Amino acid sequence: MIPARQTPESIQARKGRLQVPSLTAYDHPTARLLDEAGVPMLLVGDSLGMVVLGYPDTTSVTMADMRHHLRAVVRGASRALVGCDLPYRSYDTVEQAVANARLLMEEGAGFVKAEGGREILEQVKAIRAVGIPFCGHLGMLPQHVVEEGGKYRIKGRDEEGRRRLVEDARMLEAAGAFACVLELVTPPVAREITAACPRMVTIGIGSGPDCDGQILVTPDLVGGFPWFTPRFVVPRLKTGADIRDVVSGWVREVERGSNPVS
Ligand code: KIV
Repeated sequence: MIPARQTPESIQARKGRLQVPSLTAYDHPTARLLDEAGVPMLLVGDSLGMVVLGYPDTTSVTMADMRHHLRAVVRGASRALVGCDLPYRSYDTVEQAVANARLLMEEGAGFVKAEGGREILEQVKAIRAVGIPFCGHLGMLPQHVVEEGGKYRIKGRDEEGRRRLVEDARMLEAAGAFACVLELVTPPVAREITAACPRMVTIGIGSGPDCDGQILVTPDLVGGFPWFTPRFVVPRLKTGADIRDVVSGWVREVERGSNPVS
């Protein structure tokens, strides 16, 4: 039976049975449309920084930004489980991680997500210890891309990388993560992690088909950010190009004095 409101448990129960389609949302109307379309899990991702706020990467996104957009998404989603990213530098210490995770939960989040494995394990355990559902994020970590020289690189290509990713995934599962995003992980390693973690749902992005679910940045799926499309996404709509065409036509009509009413 489909629950009225998805929960971390209902998402977890899909493992090995039903894939988890997941999309990002940053505003009320999009969240409402995605919810009506039946997306079971929405993420207010800090990709917000690039696709909504116009920053070059995620490192300028603040807790205030996340809370503001999370509130709008929560108002739009009545059935989906809504999660929210802890932004860059908001979980450096255990105390900070718990305090900020609590703030996101107070705004209506159903879980929080943070990037990293063993290096944030104490933070994850502390978040779980106060009863907050947690989703991990392994592989390419956008919050660290500037430190890594600005390139979005595929992870898990060599043996050391593979081993570390599998170990990190097991540690996150043992710490109580109900799900984990695998971003730009080589497909064989994503498959290995999915099999190695019997309770944690893996949500792939650019990591091949053998995860427990897939997530995309919604503007990538609908062509809403036409200036950049990741290699692994084929946009299903041309939203950005269509807006440009419709608006430039309307501008010409108004300038000609044809006074369009619609
Ligand atoms: O910030 C984000 O949108 C994300 C997704 C790409 C998983 O973390």
